[in-house]
Amino acid sequence: MQRFVDKVVVVTGAGSGIGKATAERFLNEGAKVALVGRTKSKLEDVAKPYPESQVLVIEADVSNEEDVNQLVLAALEKFGRLDVLVNNAGVVTQGDVGSLSTDDWRKVMATDLDGVFYASRAAIPHLKTSKGSIIHVGSVSGTGGDWGMAAYNAAKGAVTNLTRAMAMDHGKDGIRVNAVCPSFTKTGMTEDMVDDRKLIDKFNERFALEGPGKPEDVAAVIAFLASEDARFVTGVNLPVDGGMSASNGQPPQ
Ligand SMILES: NC(=O)c1ccc[n+]([C@@H]2O[C@H](COP(=O)([O-])OP(=O)(O)OC[C@H]3O[C@@H](n4cnc5c(N)ncnc54)[C@H](O)[C@@H]3O)[C@@H](O)[C@H]2O)c1
Repeated sequence: MQRFVDKVVVVTGAGSGIGKATAERFLNEGAKVALVGRTKSKLEDVAKPYPESQVLVIEADVSNEEDVNQLVLAALEKFGRLDVLVNNAGVVTQGDVGSLSTDDWRKVMATDLDGVFYASRAAIPHLKTSKGSIIHVGSVSGTGGDWGMAAYNAAKGAVTNLTRAMAMDHGKDGIRVNAVCPSFTKTGMTEDMVDDRKLIDKFNERFALEGPGKPEDVAAVIAFLASEDARFVTGVNLPVDGGMSASNGQPPQ
């Protein structure tokens, strides 16, 4: 498929995991992609197989308002337009409200929530022109609670409702806003989990399908939401979770 020829996409956190797979998916479907992240060498590795005219590497921290404003301008300067913003960059930290440090709380909020706000705000004027769309990478942790992940649950929960609010506010401008909500996906974020057979078995008791998911599984759904096929879809927080959220929470018998 070549659904994104002449389209310009910004992907944050594009150096690894879901962001990398998403950037590659858009690039392989003909888009020009600005790869955003904190580590230039990782972004350059993603960019390497593609012609220079198709990719732009931007070193930026999404929790830094000025960095984010500049990255949107840099993408516009190189490619002349903006059609899709994928707010993917994210961090997770463990801890409940009784034990979380203020620094850990702020770090998660600054990246997973403030970063989404900064990038969306900077992109919206340009998406109005292109009638483009925004896809947030939320989480099942934004639609229900986990144990010991309070800051992440709070940030992703805010992203879930922000998706709805932004969809309502900007729909008449021709901008669609959706989110994907992955569950356990094999990436750097879950590297301490992916070799833990017992943990995977526990997750598989909750997945309807066999898990964990792959970054490419999430990237494919992001590409669908950005595509013309989803032109009447907005305000949706779409689980990409192997059916985990289909359960009412009762354990298998
Ligand atoms: N892996 C999972 O199981 C899972 C499940 C649900 C949601 N998610 C979400 O998917 C998104 C991508 O995570 P991933 O699983 O691919 O993990 P990952 O760690 O491989 O990717 C996250 C990327 O974001 C970048 N990043 C972090 N903070 C940043 C900042 N301040 N500025 C710029 N870039 C920054 C990292 O460098 C990294 O490249 C995150 O938003 C995460 O919360 C992941």
